[in-house]
Amino acid sequence: MFTLRSFIRLPAIVSTRPISSSVVTYATTPPQDSPGQQKQEEPVEEWKQKGRINAKKSMKVNLVGGKRYMWCACGYSKNQPFCDGTHLWSRFRLKIKQHPVFFKAPKDGIVGLCLCKQTKKPPYCDGTHRRKEIQEAVIVENP
Ligand code: FES
Repeated sequence: MFTLRSFIRLPAIVSTRPISSSVVTYATTPPQDSPGQQKQEEPVEEWKQKGRINAKKSMKVNLVGGKRYMWCACGYSKNQPFCDGTHLWSRFRLKIKQHPVFFKAPKDGIVGLCLCKQTKKPPYCDGTHRRKEIQEAVIVENP
């Protein structure tokens, strides 16, 4: 008897059991979320990416015009609001990623420098420390 199998030499069928669709899966594209089920990404609050909150206020400092200063951005300096090198010596132990901000005082006078380290105009206080999340944040003690 002439069959298609004898003509083109198809491999023998090992099993006649139907292949269940639940057993065989095909890797195609990653599953798409339906529009109503958009993945909620954990919002990384900007203030958590900046330096450690040293104090929830600014510090009035009398600056000398033309003099250069290093404002501590990491929040760990013991000589606030200025850098004392802690960001260098303790960067791995404390996981410090920030570097000091170098600035030159434009003129003699008293200015408010940021201590919460969350200002958008470093090194100057822009009132960010008054935000609710800053005021409610727990300050980690200086190690
Ligand atoms: Fe904080 Fe240097 S100690 S930036």
